Amino acid sequence: MALPITCKAAIAFGPNQDVVIEEIIVAAPKANEVRVKVNSTAVCHTDLYTLSGQDGEAVWPCILGHEGAGVVESIGEGVTSCNVGDHVILLYIPECRNCKFCKSGKTNLCSVIRVTQGRGQMPDGTSRFSLKRDGTPVFHFMGCSSFSEYTVVADISLAVVNKSAPLGKICLLGCGVTTGYGAVVNTAKVENGAIAAVFGLGAVGLAVVAALKSVGAKRIICIDTNLAKKPLAEFFGGSAVEFINPKTDIPEGKSIQAHLVEITTEDGAGGVDYSFECVGNVNLMRAALESCHKGWGKSIIIGVAAAGQEISTRPFQLVTGRSWMGSAFGGVKGRTELPGYVDRYLQGTFELDKFVTHTYSGVDKITDAIHVMHDAAAGALRPVITL
Ligand SMILES: NC(=O)c1ccc[n+]([C@@H]2O[C@H](COP(=O)([O-])OP(=O)(O)OC[C@H]3O[C@@H](n4cnc5c(N)ncnc54)[C@H](O)[C@@H]3O)[C@@H](O)[C@H]2O)c1
Ligand SMILES: [Zn+2]
Ligand SMILES: [Zn+2]
Repeated sequence: MALPITCKAAIAFGPNQDVVIEEIIVAAPKANEVRVKVNSTAVCHTDLYTLSGQDGEAVWPCILGHEGAGVVESIGEGVTSCNVGDHVILLYIPECRNCKFCKSGKTNLCSVIRVTQGRGQMPDGTSRFSLKRDGTPVFHFMGCSSFSEYTVVADISLAVVNKSAPLGKICLLGCGVTTGYGAVVNTAKVENGAIAAVFGLGAVGLAVVAALKSVGAKRIICIDTNLAKKPLAEFFGGSAVEFINPKTDIPEGKSIQAHLVEITTEDGAGGVDYSFECVGNVNLMRAALESCHKGWGKSIIIGVAAAGQEISTRPFQLVTGRSWMGSAFGGVKGRTELPGYVDRYLQGTFELDKFVTHTYSGVDKITDAIHVMHDAAAGALRPVITL
């Protein structure tokens, strides 16, 4: 029987405050739960978004972090999907293989623990974290809480992967990179020779670019307000990449969508075959849709807009054959598909290394890693902290 563990974690006590490194008690895993020694975690834009208070559903105090990889330390009663010592990637979208969603074969949005996960709780409605100093319960986050030396997750929230893969790299597969890649391959199903536009070149947008290159897109038109992203886009997308800074490269008074339609016009009609919004800005979502070619253009929303925001366009855009779609975690079923992503990384056919722009050692450095994500000049894609 596993005992409680005392360890350090980064605690978020409320919106717009730095996280605080504190000692916590991590309870033993209950039935169908797994305690993981987190080896590495990255910081994703969604962690910053929650910390900034824009996510109206956040609960405090909590332990953020959802791009994490580690080693199974102990398992609760009834766990059969992994063993102590297994290497795992934490999954914020679980895969139970049994709910209506999983059985549909049409989506990766497993729903079985969604309600408690959204409340920052384990499936039984309680927390496994508490502050050592006074026993205050601390909430979980996105079913992962990787900003802690140890965490407890549901057994369906773990992908068991090849032990020879470096955890400091494959932790990125827990969110951003997989999201961008899957949006191209699973959601849009982009074909060889397509013309695509990518709005926003963070880790998510650059993963979209890399995936577009891998499927043989003919033109990859990258839109970002930060010129420093241009060489990165070229690294991930090669010679198919064209870079547009909307602040300087589009004539005054002209919209991005009008510009994209113009530069892709052939035989009297223009527009991209696929567009991807990877910023979380509702105006860009509209621009991305309206950049699409009449009759078949597909626009995929990946960016997460602030709570309460709405999208708009003229219905005629859709009537004339454009599709507006969205994608969470790239439509990827974590337990089934991530082991294959890890194997492709090990074979050298899937890029992860270049996404890691900053590395840190020790849970105390999580604050620095969060700050570097906020600092546009630092050019961070993903800071990775080895715990
Ligand atoms: N759907 C999902 O499953 C999922 C998963 C992970 C992240 N996300 C969301 O995806 C988005 C991107 O995440 P990230 O980690 O890559 O973020 P990031 O902040 O690293 O990247 C955003 C990029 O957009 C650029 N940008 C900002 N405003 C712009 C504008 N007006 N025009 C053009 N470019 C602009 C920035 O310069 C930056 O390069 C976020 O909203 C994040 O919450 C969604
Ligand atoms: Zn994320
Ligand atoms: Zn399910």
